[in-house]
Amino acid sequence: MVKKASLVILISGSGSNLQAIIDAVENDQLNAEIKTVISNQVSAKGLDRASKANITTHVIDHRSYHSRENFDHAMIQAIDMANPDLVILAGFMRILSRTFIEHYKDRLINIHPSLLPRYKGLNTHQLVLDNGDKVHGASVHYVGLELDSGPVVIQAEIPVLDSDTAQTLASRVLIEEHKIYPIAIKMHIDGRIRLEDGQLLLDDNPLTVPLLWKEGKLISHR
Ligand code: GAR
Repeated sequence: MVKKASLVILISGSGSNLQAIIDAVENDQLNAEIKTVISNQVSAKGLDRASKANITTHVIDHRSYHSRENFDHAMIQAIDMANPDLVILAGFMRILSRTFIEHYKDRLINIHPSLLPRYKGLNTHQLVLDNGDKVHGASVHYVGLELDSGPVVIQAEIPVLDSDTAQTLASRVLIEEHKIYPIAIKMHIDGRIRLEDGQLLLDDNPLTVPLLWKEGKLISHR
């Protein structure tokens, strides 16, 4: 049997993406072990989800540190104890330092609620409505040095309905996030997707356009 991949998951809030990953591990979709879940918020609901699944948790409260560098250093120490194959940002709402990002080069992944490169940062759902976009979605990407940058592995796309509000969009996008995050994680830990000198490879071939998840199906090429 192939060795299980070690995962560390960073959260700040509800942890519904964390739950999707826990479920994917528990139903053997992922050949992985979640070594630890780290939150920068003591009240994050995701901590309860981790405890229920018997996963070790740590709270590293950013307000206890004088600088981003000190906070990131504490995070690195906690994460490295688990020697992870992949560090997963799942609704982790802190900007990470260059030192942190470079430390986990090629093994740091994030999910963001927009079709990147559109709408980096916050309030993505409202911005989609304000701009009259017809489609919206979520992106899983390896983490680059700039905010919400880095090669995108997979995107989920949904239509924007006339009746949509920021709340309805957020909840419909979240349902799709729960589908695509385990898919992207599986591709990484199975060695199908990887970064080589900044180039994204799928099955050893350059992946120049992200994979697309639409209407419940994975579409390899657009
Ligand atoms: C998700 O929508 C995720 O894409 C977003 O926060 C939410 C976390 O939900 N992340 C970002 O905006 C990061 N830039 P969850 O805690 O229920 O997984």
